[in-house]
Amino acid sequence: MPVLLERTIEVLDPQSGETALDCTAGLGGHAEAIARRIGPSGTLVLNDADPSNLAAAAQRLRDLPEPPAVIMLRGNFADAPRRMLEQGLAADVVLADLGFASTQIEDPARGLSFQREGPLDMRFDPESPVTAAVLVNTLPEEELAEIIRDFGEDREARRIARKLVEARKDAPIDSTVRLAQIVRSAMRGGREKGRIDPATRTFQALRIAVNDELGSLAALLEAVGRAATSLKVGAESRPTWLRRGARVCVISFHSLEDRPVKRLFADLTRRGMAPALTKKPDGATDEEIASNPRARSARLRAIRVG
Ligand SMILES: C[S@@+](CC[C@H](N)C(=O)[O-])C[C@H]1O[C@@H](n2cnc3c(N)ncnc32)[C@H](O)[C@@H]1O
Repeated sequence: MPVLLERTIEVLDPQSGETALDCTAGLGGHAEAIARRIGPSGTLVLNDADPSNLAAAAQRLRDLPEPPAVIMLRGNFADAPRRMLEQGLAADVVLADLGFASTQIEDPARGLSFQREGPLDMRFDPESPVTAAVLVNTLPEEELAEIIRDFGEDREARRIARKLVEARKDAPIDSTVRLAQIVRSAMRGGREKGRIDPATRTFQALRIAVNDELGSLAALLEAVGRAATSLKVGAESRPTWLRRGARVCVISFHSLEDRPVKRLFADLTRRGMAPALTKKPDGATDEEIASNPRARSARLRAIRVG
């Protein structure tokens, strides 16, 4: 079940015949709900870095009784605004549901979970050149510590980085389970009962670094800001990838993602460029969290542009 589905559709309010861009098609759950609203006269642009997810999402839409026109963009959503413009498309509805999909975390071959033995990969895009194993086995200790501190918000980053560099002298660190063991061994006094596994933060940090998650989000947000500004100053002669009145919704899963979204949306709202559609970030109900624990950290923010 896609996270915060009802609220997402409520804020995006897709209308018959509109063009929607799903930056993170995943398994197509949100996309399907959007497709049903825009109908056969609408256009749904599906973007994902992961080709198998993208194909699954597209198939899901084509299986609908009255599918919209479906356009597939495989790649980083940082490039989606430019690619929309190149194809002469402008979106009325934009969704970015950040992070990983269940198919990815549950597949041991993707190396995203330390609960399953697998290679240290972590790429959403299997063709991107850098895996987590490359980072862990080649970066200088100082850079590893920075990644773990900045993207994992882990105060033990230095100790963990030191342990990783010591361990890789014996043999390359190439499996999820070994990485998790090394991280745990760096913890002073062992793991406290009930606390999250210390490997959680290092895995999050490496995943963010491998997929340049914050850089991609920053690029997307910058493109939203630029389009909102040109629509507001009436630069109609210059084409934008967002149509006047476009609704933009971002669902984030940790504060490193939510912070830049909050900052941009608040800034655009304050400058009269884009009214907020959410006063505070919306989160999941207890009922949704009970059926999908990942929804616990979901934060939804939305604006209307122009
Ligand atoms: C949380 S899932 C999306 C789930 C989807 N909303 C659904 O209803 O099934 C996130 C998806 O975004 C993709 N993704 C994450 N970061 C990306 C990026 N920078 N560019 C393109 N796709 C990305 C992942 O590959 C994954 O399939």
